[in-house]
Parts: sequence; C-alpha cells; structure tokens
Amino acid sequence: MSKESESGLLRLNASMPNGSKKRYVKSKSSKKKDLAPTPTKKTEAIPAQVKPPEYDVDYAQSVVFKPNTGPQTQYLASSEREVLYGGAAGGGKSYATLADPLRNLNNKDFSGLLVRHTTEELRELIQKSQELYPKAIPNIKWSERKSQWITPRGGTLWMSYLDRDTDVMRYQGQAFNYVAFDELTQWNSPYSWNYMRSRLRSANKDLGLYMRATTNPGGPGHSWVKKMFIDPAKPNTPFWATDIETSEVLKFPTGHSRAGEPLFKRRFIPASLFDNPYLAESGDYEAMLLSLPEHQRKQLLEGNWDVNEGAAFLSLTDKYM
Ligand SMILES: Nc1ncnc2c1ncn2[C@@H]1O[C@H](COP(=O)(O)OP(=O)(O)O)[C@@H](O)[C@H]1O
Ligand SMILES: [Mg+2]
Repeated sequence: MSKESESGLLRLNASMPNGSKKRYVKSKSSKKKDLAPTPTKKTEAIPAQVKPPEYDVDYAQSVVFKPNTGPQTQYLASSEREVLYGGAAGGGKSYATLADPLRNLNNKDFSGLLVRHTTEELRELIQKSQELYPKAIPNIKWSERKSQWITPRGGTLWMSYLDRDTDVMRYQGQAFNYVAFDELTQWNSPYSWNYMRSRLRSANKDLGLYMRATTNPGGPGHSWVKKMFIDPAKPNTPFWATDIETSEVLKFPTGHSRAGEPLFKRRFIPASLFDNPYLAESGDYEAMLLSLPEHQRKQLLEGNWDVNEGAAFLSLTDKYM
C-alpha cells in the first residue's frame, strides 16, 4: 500500500467515530437548509464527502492490531479446522481471538460466534471488542439486544455465553463459519465444543471453517482439553483429530465415498507471557504469577499441562521430585 493511502487510512481510523459523525451531520443540515432546489452545486460537493477512501480491511486490521511475533502470529495464521492457543496467562490469547474474526467480518457471508462460559466473563470480552472493532471496521454496529456485531456489509459476530450444556440449543439451526471458545477448560465436558462443531458450515468457501479456542491449563475441563489437543502430538504440530477416549484417528465411516480418510486436523499452539511485550515488559504481571503456589505458577506462568488442581501433588511427585 502506498504511503499516501496508508496515511489516509490512518487518519480514517484515528478520526473514527467523531470524524465520520461530523461529516454526516454537516451534509444533513445543509440538506435541511436547501429544501428549495439548488441540487447541482450540492451534488458536486457530496460525492467527495460521502464516498470514503477505498477501504482495505486487511490493512485496517493491521493498523489497529499488530500480532506479537511468535505464537500469536502463528495462531492467527493457522489453517487447521480446530486450534487451541493455550498456556501461560497474559500471552495475548484472548486479544488475538478478538482480532481473528476481524479479517473476514466485513464479508456479507461471515457468520461468527465467540463464547465465554459465563456472562461476567463475556462482559470483559465485549468491552475490549468495543475498543477494537470500530477502529478496524468503520460503521460496524453493536446490538446489545442481540449481543451481536453487525458490519456494514452484513457480516455478523455473535458474542455470547454458554453456561449449561442445554444453552447450546440456542444455536440450533444456526450456521457459523467461525466459532471461538475463550478459556476452553472452563467447560467441564467437551459437549458444547462438539455440539458447536455441528453448527460449522458456510455456503461461501472462501471464508473457510474454523473453530478456535484459548485457555490456560487447569480448570474443570483440564483433562478433556488435554486429551483433545495436548496429548496427541508435539506442540505446534498439526495432527489428525482423534477420539479423546480411544485416541483413534476420527475417520469417514465404511460405506462413505471417502471411507477411511481422516476427518480434519487439530493443532495446539503454546503461549507464553514473554511472547506478549504489552504485559511482559514491566515485569509486574510476572511478579504476580511468581507469587502463586507452585502448581498454579506452573500452569499460569509456565503453561504446564502436567499439573492439575486435583492431581497437582501427584503430578508434581511424578514429574518434578
Ligand atoms: N498484539 C497485541 N497488540 C496490542 N496489545 C496486545 C496484543 N496482544 C496482547 N495485548 C495486550 O495484552 C493484554 C493481555 O492479553 P490477553 O489476550 O488478555 O492475554 P491472555 O488471554 O493470554 O491471558 C491485552 O489485554 C492487551 O492489552
Ligand atoms: Mg484470556
């Protein structure tokens, strides 16, 4: 992108939403004044005001959000059907998951869902999206009633909570091309994650189908998340999805035209606090994590999956003593 259009876009973002409002009010009030026809002069002025500079979503995203090098970049570039970005607290996992849908959100066919386990946790994520999204997509609208972002071209992102297993019925009949769970180990069984996979479809092949999750080790779902994403392969290595009980690769069934072929790929991308200069540099957050009891420190600072709350001391004996 040329320097000129670059600065144009920066200005566009920097002036949102006030700049656009001002322009809109101006043209409206001038219309009111000139009810009598002197349209030719006005129509000359209007195109320059109402036609915004060509809008480049990829570029706008890169202006408002620059991924940290390393795992955050790998997470945003990952192409596997299901990806878990997990490990240390403060690595920039949730923030990256908010930025991820921005790439295609302004496509009319984009239909996304971002969930947290409870309403309180969701609130925090919505607040951050309200800081980020209007800078990346001018005129994007948040509907509190629907708990949904709606872009000028019609793409939508639903931000919701999923507390009990029965909550998934809310999404019966819905189709999403992007589904993300923030803090996946908050769900004590894989039921909701598996159900939402059944909602993953899109008529627009260009958008791809993605399920994304972030988490720290620990929490009620530690064990099933570990079996699904951590145990089958080395970190950062794509692998064919397995049945978490039998560890067998999931395949198309006998009689299917693709019988015996694996179904889809998964990948685990480990995060570390030190990947995120926004939190790591001052050292304050690290000091807080260092002050935690050993098993929590191992989970939240080191992103260690071999310690778990209940089994913490057992695992510690096995691994470290
Ligand atoms: N690429 C980035 N650009 C700007 N700020 C970032 C970026 N990544 C992370 N941050 C900042 O770091 C903070 C912590 O990241 P967060 O995603 O909440 O961590 P995690 O979910 O891994 O615990 C965010 O609130 C945000 O302010
Ligand atoms: Mg987080």
